[in-house]
Amino acid sequence: MASTIRIRPLRAHSEYEACIGIQRRVWNRSDLEITPPHQLQVSVHMGGILLGAFVDGTAAGYVYSYPAVFRGRTIQHSHHLAVLPEYQGLGLGKTLKWAQREEALARGYNLITWTYDPLQARNANLNLHTLGAAGRTYLDDFYGPAPSLALEEGVPTDRLLVEWPLMSKRVCDRAAGAPPRLDPEAYPKVVVRRPEQSFPRAAPKRPDFSRREKTLLVEVPRAIRDLKGLGGLIATWQKAVRAAFLRYFEAGYVLTDFVSGERSYYVLRRSPVRPR
Ligand SMILES: CC(C)(COP(=O)(O)OP(=O)(O)OC[C@H]1O[C@@H](n2cnc3c(N)ncnc32)[C@H](O)[C@@H]1OP(=O)(O)O)[C@@H](O)C(=O)NCCC(=O)NCCS
Repeated sequence: MASTIRIRPLRAHSEYEACIGIQRRVWNRSDLEITPPHQLQVSVHMGGILLGAFVDGTAAGYVYSYPAVFRGRTIQHSHHLAVLPEYQGLGLGKTLKWAQREEALARGYNLITWTYDPLQARNANLNLHTLGAAGRTYLDDFYGPAPSLALEEGVPTDRLLVEWPLMSKRVCDRAAGAPPRLDPEAYPKVVVRRPEQSFPRAAPKRPDFSRREKTLLVEVPRAIRDLKGLGGLIATWQKAVRAAFLRYFEAGYVLTDFVSGERSYYVLRRSPVRPR
């Protein structure tokens, strides 16, 4: 029999406990790094959006945002999106985000922001390709030395802040379905892996900052879990990607898409549709 999926607001203390259990399992967080029930309660009470995904009545994931100010506008900032491992890949994550968009629009918001580790290719694909968010803000070591927020111990907790302008054409189009994958062979690349090194554990070449074409690509490892235990190699990728993003954001480029495949690339566009 097909499973029943339901997305609905979480408001009761007992339901916040489900979010704690999901945080522990999805992120393996220590007690100090868990967002506790009292924080969920006060932010929900003060305008936050907390939606749970239930599969046949079992809490399988949630999305959580709260009111914030960004570039002078009142927006929702999304702090958590998590789906239990056994329910991942079934469409719950994107269903939660589209439901979060509906709820934010109903409350009069036009923009949701969030951050994620830019070396997490799956999240990049969800955020930039599937949802149509855009990135032009790089946050260097954003959370400081927080072990469960770093890719490996000692690797800085860099984050990309993405903007999701809820009624933009791009986002409305994505709500109807993601566009075809861009052909990475057709575009110049600022960051690319060293071809002579064995895939997937290859290091990046030195970034090519001479590129000035309208559309540029920045390669990242296809799946960061392939580099598990290799903190030095991850830090090398992080340095290359950070340098490229900082340089090109400064020059007016915006991250507008992600190409996921055997090799994965961020898409930087000059003079693109602005995020808002
Ligand atoms: C990120 C997360 C919430 C996604 O939830 P999910 O239910 O597994 O995701 P979905 O099945 O809805 O897939 C949504 C999109 O993610 C991306 N995605 C999922 N699996 C992917 C994979 N193996 N490779 C590349 N992209 C993938 C795709 O863009 C996909 O959209 P599509 O199906 O239209 O191509 C979930 O994997 C999770 O909890 N991860 C750990 C916590 C985390 O990283 N949260 C932060 C998210 S910014």
